Amino acid sequence: MNNRAIAHRGAIFHSLADPDSTELENSYQYFADGVMVMENGHICALGEAADILQQYPKIEVHEHPNQLIVPGFIDTHIHYPQTEVIASYGEQLLDWLEDYTFPAEAAFHDEAHCNQASEFFLDELLKNGTTTALVFGTVHKQSVETFFEAADKRQLRMIAGKVMMDRNAPSNLTDTPQSSYQDSKELIERYHGKNRLSYAVTPRFAPTSSPEQLSFAGQLLQEYPDLYLHTHISENKNEISWVKELFPDNKNYLDVYDQYNLVTPRSVFAHGIHLEDSECERLAQADSAVAFCPTSNTFLGSGLFNLSRLEQHNVNVSLGTDVGGGTSFSMLQTMQEAYKVCQLSGNQINPFKAFYLSTLAGAKALKLESKIGNLVKGSEADFVVLDLASTPLMDYRMQRASSIEEQLFVLMVLGDDRAVAETYSFGQCVYKKSP
Ligand code: GUN
Ligand code: ZN
Repeated sequence: MNNRAIAHRGAIFHSLADPDSTELENSYQYFADGVMVMENGHICALGEAADILQQYPKIEVHEHPNQLIVPGFIDTHIHYPQTEVIASYGEQLLDWLEDYTFPAEAAFHDEAHCNQASEFFLDELLKNGTTTALVFGTVHKQSVETFFEAADKRQLRMIAGKVMMDRNAPSNLTDTPQSSYQDSKELIERYHGKNRLSYAVTPRFAPTSSPEQLSFAGQLLQEYPDLYLHTHISENKNEISWVKELFPDNKNYLDVYDQYNLVTPRSVFAHGIHLEDSECERLAQADSAVAFCPTSNTFLGSGLFNLSRLEQHNVNVSLGTDVGGGTSFSMLQTMQEAYKVCQLSGNQINPFKAFYLSTLAGAKALKLESKIGNLVKGSEADFVVLDLASTPLMDYRMQRASSIEEQLFVLMVLGDDRAVAETYSFGQCVYKKSP
């Protein structure tokens, strides 16, 4: 950790609020020549270079010409064990799980495999500028131990959990209600609140948990009040029919989770494409969040997420990649796909909104907005330095981009990992692109 104050100078952009909930110009700050000062892993000043450098005349300054500093991206739904099945051809959700996902996840009984996969996954996240993620492990306890150990070594703010899955899956990938409770509890005791790590109780989705297991999941949430709940909901029409068959007495999909006290302000439900109005109302009332995962939704043919509909219901929405159902680790690419999905349902998300969704909205979904999500004084110093000329095409296009709005839009449409020059976590450089 840096004990001495250090400054970064360059163009700086961050969100202050949802652009749809306030005047657009009050929803962000942009400094064409800005300085951000950090000390002990936290931001202690941000503003115009001329003002800040006057206050810190002797400070060491790192210069970032032709680059744009933004907050670290927050991916609110991703599966680290599925990295190796990204880009698997030809299936929709339930067959894709059987044919590609479950076989890949079975390999995580082996600790050496977990270690190698955790390191590779974290390298990919950081290379793409993602500094915080809400992460699925596998059913194996060691998948989460190795992940947390690897994240902790790099001082990352990460949230993860062991999959709870006791039915409708291969026998080498199932636990029992009791073992899932016990293993989760041991992981919670060891890692929840350790440095920058937090635990998410992670039943895979309603079809793969018995009522007894869901009830144990609810019990964990009662025992440790600041735990997260992370699962899937209403992604695919066949999945929804299956939930109706398995839980005939529940009003709808969300009601299954609600029956076991899993719908809380710290619950993040991935997808939510086909939610009924009453489910949206309940999510809003509970202050839960839905992770919109556009590259997964188009790739798996799951459907078009209706962002404006969920927002009309006041549901908290954030962005996720859902790798390996999703096709990219890049939140820039994810913003691009979100833009296209919204276009197809007659809405536009402007670039301020897209960057908000992948930073501050993620922090809000995770109830971490006092720590991450933007660059205000007091925040943890997690940020990304984006290269505005990362490819010849981007460079060529940027010459016509006359405003920060246009620059952000070009970044999200043409950008990917090549646009990430450096990633910082808790004030430390954790990734630097090779020249
Ligand atoms: N629903 C249940 N499990 C999964 C998964 O691994 N990926 C996706 N996209 N949806 C799921
Ligand atoms: Zn998923």
